[in-house]
Amino acid sequence: MNKPKGTYDVTTNGSTWLYLEQVFYSLCANYNYQYIRTPIFETSELFHRGIGEGTDIISKETYDFTDKGKRNLTLRPELTAGIVRSYVENKMYVDSNKPHKFFTFGPAFRYERPQHGRNREFYQAGVEAFGIKSALLDSEIITLGYNYLKFLGFENIMIKINNIGNNITRTKYKETLLAYLSTHSDELCEDCKARMLNNPLRVLDCKIDNPKSVIQNAPSILDSLDEESNKYFNDLQIHLEMLDIPYVVDEKLVRGLDYYTDTVFEYIIDTDKIGNQNVVGGGGRYDNLVSTLGGPDTPGVGFSFGIDRIIEILNLLNINPTEKQLIDVYLLGINNNVDSYLLTIADALRMSGFRVEISFSNKNLSKTLKNLKDQPIRYLAIIGEDEINHGQIKLKDHQTTEEYTIDGNDLIKFLDEHCHQKD
Ligand code: HAM
Repeated sequence: MNKPKGTYDVTTNGSTWLYLEQVFYSLCANYNYQYIRTPIFETSELFHRGIGEGTDIISKETYDFTDKGKRNLTLRPELTAGIVRSYVENKMYVDSNKPHKFFTFGPAFRYERPQHGRNREFYQAGVEAFGIKSALLDSEIITLGYNYLKFLGFENIMIKINNIGNNITRTKYKETLLAYLSTHSDELCEDCKARMLNNPLRVLDCKIDNPKSVIQNAPSILDSLDEESNKYFNDLQIHLEMLDIPYVVDEKLVRGLDYYTDTVFEYIIDTDKIGNQNVVGGGGRYDNLVSTLGGPDTPGVGFSFGIDRIIEILNLLNINPTEKQLIDVYLLGINNNVDSYLLTIADALRMSGFRVEISFSNKNLSKTLKNLKDQPIRYLAIIGEDEINHGQIKLKDHQTTEEYTIDGNDLIKFLDEHCHQKD
């Protein structure tokens, strides 16, 4: 029996997966986002109303089924609609302490043509923040995503940003765009000929057949913005510049989901190794989605990363983020008499947040030391009866071989000062 097309098993690279998840959780916690998890299937209507009938996701890619109670259900093709549904259903908007900030991690399902970085079951990590419309919040979110990618070891990160205006200005822009596209309809792919009439914005998002020049020469949505959106977009850029975030304005960026208003953005890893699948994440503001799904008028903003895509690109670029996982202290006992002492120190250090390993066998000290030579270790401590009797620990820097004799009571303080990557 084989796995279904477009799915994969996580086997040998399981620790990379866990690491990416963990780093995302702890970064989001630093930004004061709370964990939220919603069901993997929801009513089909949620996604139709939330994401938009005219999108590729809804018209072609959902896994729909009817359960034994004849309910129409859909495996979530993305995580935002479910979180907004939960926000409304649980009346989280009544809490006046805004913004309400959430992060999530989990699988999503789209019936797409599988290729490198594109699967039918894939994992997303995302954040969503509700209740405040502010370029400051958009900047915080864009920066969080950027810092995540930086932390994983990516260097050529590009962030595309755009502003697609509000409902009124966007409706006017769609008319202008439709008029332009109509004069070029013979150059559009078959799908886009239909998209053009349903929602001409979707033509800008078509990544396949259309000649680039048609899209490039299309009127810019930025020319249609009103004063408020213009100022909002300007403010966003001022914040991003202050933060040194490498962004470019892409006036043709509209994103493939219908719920966006004003800010939209995408994270791209600038590499030719994975073709079109180098967009590792995207998001934007969705100020009408909460009310569309039955809640009060509440602005929202967020993004999602494609985690399997990130892993694929890390592999292609030979970046191994788990290499950073240095063992802070490796405790080596010289004989069995020191076993319990070893465990006690290890336990105290682990409970203080340090990554600690101990030797489980002390039969051949020099062989063990040889094996440890190339291991990712910060400090090595060899413990014998002498160390126990004097209440002292000898730490050896595994890279420089510099040695320190530390009083047992000062060990945590010393490591606090010297192990910067404590997490
Ligand atoms: P999205 O652009 O549809 O946005 O998906 C976000 C990311 O998920 C993409 O940039 C890509 O890395 C990954 N992804 C999408 N489809 C696949 C696939 N078939 N295989 C592997 N990875 C994939 C959203 O989903 C929005 N909910 C983002 C958002 C959150 N907007 C506001 N809040």
